[in-house]
Amino acid sequence: MPLLSEMDRNGAIALLNQLVTVGVDFKLDDQVTRKRLAPAEIRDLLVTDLPVEPTCVPAVVQELVDTVLPMCNNEASPRFLGFGHTGADVAALAGGLLALFAQQNLINQSFAAPSATFTEIAVIRWLRDLIGFTNPAAGDVKTVWDVGGVTTYGGTGSNTTAMMLARENIAPGTMRDGVTDAARMHIVVPAGIGHYSVKSALEWIGCGGRIIEVPTSGYRYDLTALEHTLEERRGEVMSVVAYTGDSRTHTVENLRAVHDITRAIDPRIWLHADACWGLMCAFAPELAHKLAGIEDFDSVTVDPHKVMDIPYAMSALLVRDPASLRLVSSYSDLIMQEDFAFGQVTPFIGTKEWSSVKLWAMMRAHGRRGLADLMRRRLITTRTFTGLVDDNSRLLRLNDPDMTAVVFMYLPTGHDPIRPDVERINAISKAIHARILEEGRWHFHQFSLPDDTGRIQRDATLHPLRFMGNNGRITESHMRDALAYVTGLGHALEQQ
Ligand SMILES: Cc1ncc(COP(=O)(O)O)c(C=O)c1O
Repeated sequence: MPLLSEMDRNGAIALLNQLVTVGVDFKLDDQVTRKRLAPAEIRDLLVTDLPVEPTCVPAVVQELVDTVLPMCNNEASPRFLGFGHTGADVAALAGGLLALFAQQNLINQSFAAPSATFTEIAVIRWLRDLIGFTNPAAGDVKTVWDVGGVTTYGGTGSNTTAMMLARENIAPGTMRDGVTDAARMHIVVPAGIGHYSVKSALEWIGCGGRIIEVPTSGYRYDLTALEHTLEERRGEVMSVVAYTGDSRTHTVENLRAVHDITRAIDPRIWLHADACWGLMCAFAPELAHKLAGIEDFDSVTVDPHKVMDIPYAMSALLVRDPASLRLVSSYSDLIMQEDFAFGQVTPFIGTKEWSSVKLWAMMRAHGRRGLADLMRRRLITTRTFTGLVDDNSRLLRLNDPDMTAVVFMYLPTGHDPIRPDVERINAISKAIHARILEEGRWHFHQFSLPDDTGRIQRDATLHPLRFMGNNGRITESHMRDALAYVTGLGHALEQQ
């Protein structure tokens, strides 16, 4: 009997407890994945017709555990070195479990999320505080428009909401009337290192993919080029996007300078900081200076599911002026006609799960001091990895980490720094990554990257590997073993 009320209470608890055990053991497993099959093989195994006859719940659970879970990627494995989203914070897992059962819907406060609405407000205010936005006194939070942020399902959703704000800011009433003058709706991004989400956002919100790419240097805007572009395209730009940790090297933009240049040329331009990764700088006081100036941006995306060990999915868009969210609010007397209904201020989302309680629990458990300690441990891991790469003559580091991302490449025998064979270096790096994925023992991330520091060949497009030091389970011996594996693969591939 599938309904809780129809099942024996103790049997239901035992079954669900069994899953908690399975879940904890899954996360504590060292392996990235237990079983690897080709996509078509997984398809043929799992894409089946719905049986006519019911299956008892324990058998369904067993099928999930035996057949599906072994092929899932374990991002909390200490061998999963390419990203840092472990989802392994115990307080966050507890919050997530509670939310699953409590089933609150933050579209509305009074009858759908009486208390959850206020833990969400608290967590948004904690995030604002971390990045340096001022909060009104709690007693002055009288409506959702006094909160200064919304939670979404990811950086993409938060960035899209930011682009809607930029559009309404430059052309008020577009929500009502539609886009009439898209020529004013360009956005400026750094060339080659941006995240696709802002361009997609423009396409989704009817502005067309009007991206103006500005050259970079050291994975930040070339500030002279930025100034020149804004002068030249005066009246056409609705937003300048600054990566507070770009997607690849996690380099933090020179936020103060980008702010000052943009405001001096056109104060109507919406300044948006994508701090999906950069939120980490706010954890430890010694990194906070990297965020200087962010408090003067109009909006900031943060992605706790990337940097705070909380399970997917939870992101937030924070706005300097809380009332600016009125620009993208929608209204219906169906269920949202009340002061604290988040449904009014969260574009694209109706029913809204209590995802933020995972972060609420994580932040409560750590406190400010715990967040600083967490970040310091990550920085030590990152420094250790950086040292191991630098000490290895077969490896070359491409970035100077602002946070925890280390981007590096294998250098084939005979590499000539004066006349590098970029094609060969890339071919071997891609082959190394393909083997890493195929074997599934370790995980590094790979992407294309302009050589913006000129460590191989200035402006060449490279395909390096990326390590991230966020996962608290990574030890020095994991790092040594992983690099020995990479260099071993590189050496073997050179012989082929
Ligand atoms: C800088 C940046 N912005 C936005 C995103 C999108 O975030 P999400 O995948 O949570 O939608 C990413 C994802 O990697 C990112 O690196």
